[in-house]
Amino acid sequence: MRVLTIIPTYNELESLPKTLQRLRTAVPASDVLVVDDNSPDGTGTLADGFAAEDPQVHVLHRKGKEGLGAAYIAGFKWGLEAGYDVLVEMDADGSHQPEQLPQLLEAIEQGADLAMGSRWVPGGSVVNWPLYRQAISRVGSTYARLMLGLRIKDVTGGYRAFRRSTLEKLNLDQVDSVGYGFQVDLAWRVAKLGLRIEERPITFVERELGASKMSGNIVVEAMINVTKWGLAARWNTLAGKVKNTNS
Ligand code: GDD
Ligand code: MN
Repeated sequence: MRVLTIIPTYNELESLPKTLQRLRTAVPASDVLVVDDNSPDGTGTLADGFAAEDPQVHVLHRKGKEGLGAAYIAGFKWGLEAGYDVLVEMDADGSHQPEQLPQLLEAIEQGADLAMGSRWVPGGSVVNWPLYRQAISRVGSTYARLMLGLRIKDVTGGYRAFRRSTLEKLNLDQVDSVGYGFQVDLAWRVAKLGLRIEERPITFVERELGASKMSGNIVVEAMINVTKWGLAARWNTLAGKVKNTNS
């Protein structure tokens, strides 16, 4: 299995070196793609330095800050084109511990189409995450689960491994959600295809350096989208039933 770990970055100068080093040590077989949105702090140049030293590290430079979702879509396309079998999502700030990646890859080897790192299954946890962030995550996950009928516990989690065929079945060009919404969006699309999703417990460690890029707007976008998708799904089911009874 050829594995590509995609790390989106926006102003992660302080965090990226350690994450890259840990990843290269923990899973040396995985290639890495840093997707940088022209970070003003020079993260892109720093990543170029790593790429110059290590043929397994690559950098995709984008024009400017277009959001986490757009960065991942660009990274997925790059990785599919380059022929990778598994494409991994990982934050740059150390929240997703590279040492736990083998568990996700193992789930893929055992047949999962999407393996998700999960804070909210037995064995999963968060370290140093403020209570309000835990609350948003738990409430958001529960709302999305109920609204969309998902069985996943950590719907917004961003530590994931996709089997290549899973991404090929998604219409990546149609995905336009930005923050947490992007993660929910992809999970929902994979679930609708009836593909196999497996959660594995992870310990999410809040960043020690730099600042989060998540904002209130991103939470609102996610809530609105989840509501829209959930209502549309219910409407379609209802319309289908009415049609069946009439015919
Ligand atoms: N290229 C690019 N462009 N990268 C971005 C952008 C962007 O516009 N916005 C954020 N990132 C990168 C950050 O540099 C970091 O590597 C990663 O995306 C996650 O951003 P954070 O700002 O650290 O997110 P968080 O810790 O608040 O949120 C985490 O938890 C959320 C809820 O579970 C992430 O794992 C999210 O994916 C997750 O939805
Ligand atoms: Mn973070």
